[in-house]
Amino acid sequence: MVLQAIQYEPASASSPPTLRILDQLLLPHRTAYEAIANCEEAHAAIKQMKVRGAPAIAIVAALALAVEIGVAAVTGKLATSPDEVREQISQRLDYLKTSRPTAVNLGDAVGKLKIVAKKAALQSGATAGSVAQAYIVAAERMLVDDVSDNKAIGEHGARWIEENTAAGRQRRGDKTCGLQVLTHCNTGSLATAGYGTALGVIRSLKAADMLTRAYCTETRPYNQGSRLTAYELVHDEVPATLITDSMACALLAREGNRLAAIVVGADRVAANGDTANKIGTYSLAVLARHHGVKFLVAAPRTTIDLTTASGKDIVIEERAPEEVTRIKGPKVTVDGEVQVDEAAQVISIAATGIDVWNPAFDVTPAELIDGVITEVGVVEKTAGKFDFQPIFQHPS
Ligand code: MRU
Repeated sequence: MVLQAIQYEPASASSPPTLRILDQLLLPHRTAYEAIANCEEAHAAIKQMKVRGAPAIAIVAALALAVEIGVAAVTGKLATSPDEVREQISQRLDYLKTSRPTAVNLGDAVGKLKIVAKKAALQSGATAGSVAQAYIVAAERMLVDDVSDNKAIGEHGARWIEENTAAGRQRRGDKTCGLQVLTHCNTGSLATAGYGTALGVIRSLKAADMLTRAYCTETRPYNQGSRLTAYELVHDEVPATLITDSMACALLAREGNRLAAIVVGADRVAANGDTANKIGTYSLAVLARHHGVKFLVAAPRTTIDLTTASGKDIVIEERAPEEVTRIKGPKVTVDGEVQVDEAAQVISIAATGIDVWNPAFDVTPAELIDGVITEVGVVEKTAGKFDFQPIFQHPS
């Protein structure tokens, strides 16, 4: 079975495009896809985190509008002039952008898709249909490009780790030495169109026969690590160990730089390299520096936001207190059997009445980041500073 967060069928002669998302609230115990027929459904699914992960959110938003437009075209409900279609696209994209604030990929996709619609409307001989079609083609392209970008990130990351870490150099001298990597949150097939970013690096290390063990953190409070990353690692038969977030320190104390690197994803990398990612990332970066372990961010260029000067300018989403005070999952019998088919239980795990602060992300200062792995190569600091301009001039 291929792990797919997003299932999209382009339009055929007889039917408009369709979009389904894997409901990640039900994972790892249930695999259920949900149809997304319009932007309202996509907005709700993103806000509720049925689909999550910076690239996946952007792609689902883009494709939901493709479906909406595709259906309008075949049912004769598309606006009549090219400019009206462009305006509708722009308004719907602005609405989708309000679903979650921190990941820049959604805003980046919105900006690029608006330009596509604008250019198509300005073409000589443009029609309502040609603007709609140009939008749909561009949205579909995002789905395809994300997978190839992630594979390139995986390869660049695996090579960098082999060449630039103590464990990697040891391995180059002795091929029997394998590499261990720690990751946080979920950055895999479930967070992207496929393969993943930081988890893509782990997949590439495994494919190159270099990986002996991946460690994944539980990632409280939403547990993307224990529910989603652990699920992907088990699915791909990657030798892997789950730890709670508070065990990372003990792991680094035990392994030191026998752990090759900590590799995480990103929701927004500011122009100076400060990186917003899942809450808990910053603590891991501090730990890595203390223990002399390399700390890497893996993200496509769409996650690098040159318009945001530093981490101070990144809006951090704060989520509901219930994510901290309650947990949800299937019942387990006294014999340890998971009751997958029964409705999930919600259990209170905190004192009623306590105030809760639940930021979904934190910002890791650039100073603590050794490299940003992108689809066109690994950006390292020069004289203590990141400069991302050259990777945007890259020919690809
Ligand atoms: O709140 P989430 O689950 O959407 O947060 C996900 C993360 O923080 C990921 O690390 C990030 O989006 C990169 S996914 C390739």
